[in-house]
Amino acid sequence: MGKIRKIGVLTSGGDAPGMNAAIRGVTRTAIFNGLEVVGIRHGYQGLIDANFIPLEASSVSDIIQRGGTILKTARCEAFKTPEGRAQAYNKLKEAQIDGVVVIGGDGSFTGARIFNEEYDIPFVGIPGTIDNDIFGTDYTIGYDTALNTVVEAVDKIRDTASAHNRMFFVEVMGAEAGFIALYSGIATGAEAILIPEIKGEQRDLKKMIENGNLRKKSSNLIIVAEGETEGGAFAIAEKLKHEFTGYDIRVSVLGHLQRGGSPTAIDRVNASRLGHAAVEALIDDQKSVMVGLSNDEIVLVPFRRAVKQNKEVDLSLLDLARILSV
Ligand code: F6P
Repeated sequence: MGKIRKIGVLTSGGDAPGMNAAIRGVTRTAIFNGLEVVGIRHGYQGLIDANFIPLEASSVSDIIQRGGTILKTARCEAFKTPEGRAQAYNKLKEAQIDGVVVIGGDGSFTGARIFNEEYDIPFVGIPGTIDNDIFGTDYTIGYDTALNTVVEAVDKIRDTASAHNRMFFVEVMGAEAGFIALYSGIATGAEAILIPEIKGEQRDLKKMIENGNLRKKSSNLIIVAEGETEGGAFAIAEKLKHEFTGYDIRVSVLGHLQRGGSPTAIDRVNASRLGHAAVEALIDDQKSVMVGLSNDEIVLVPFRRAVKQNKEVDLSLLDLARILSV
């Protein structure tokens, strides 16, 4: 065993289904390796406030199937300041915590990267966000569950859309990325998908109408990524409504229901693997890295790379969606 004797674990940023499975994976792997574990509550704010709770093997019983995070989460402004980070370091030292696992998205990893440039307590990250927008990993915790939640909701919207011969603009989450929109659009057979990575789709939508591709259907579903346009699906529907005269249009914003619920089997298994890998990385003296999955293998990616580069969507999937949705 290296110099790590006691580790902390926290969840930060938007919660994602599977975070609890990762906390369990971290806690039980640490205990297996003879380490003490401390839960840090409310993300980075809990570091600054020393809001620590000891975690035993039994503390993480019965949580693998639960959404949310037992440690709570937050987006913390204070950790962005040198004073906040200094306080966090002092609290970690006082509690004799030798390493920290951060489960979160790119904002959380940016904080961890800066902290590790300033201080010697190693931080290791686990990608946890429904947006799937972290470079260097094929997978982020919660994305699979959110995607399945969206698919279930959109299937239901299809039923009512068909019953009334309506056109729906359905807005899904994803921040600045279109992964949830693209994959849910393909999975639900959406007539069109609007994502931030591709501009001009709104124009194409008009062309589809003119070609009659949309007209002959009993329902039309257009999936809109929230980051596509300022104002989201409502703004797009408003902007395009004069092109769609003759259509009975409705807008549905799925919102935060996409972040909740019991994690899928994929999220539970991958979160468990990443929790285990994060503890092993700390034991191996790694710092300022994220553990991720690439081609279903565990990989270590420096925070600096994970947050700097944009993860690209596979645009050939958009072509596929167009071919299949006529
Ligand atoms: O990053 C996860 C996410 O759910 C995004 O998809 C969304 O844009 C954002 O968080 C919403 O954040 P909040 O819960 O603070 O409204």
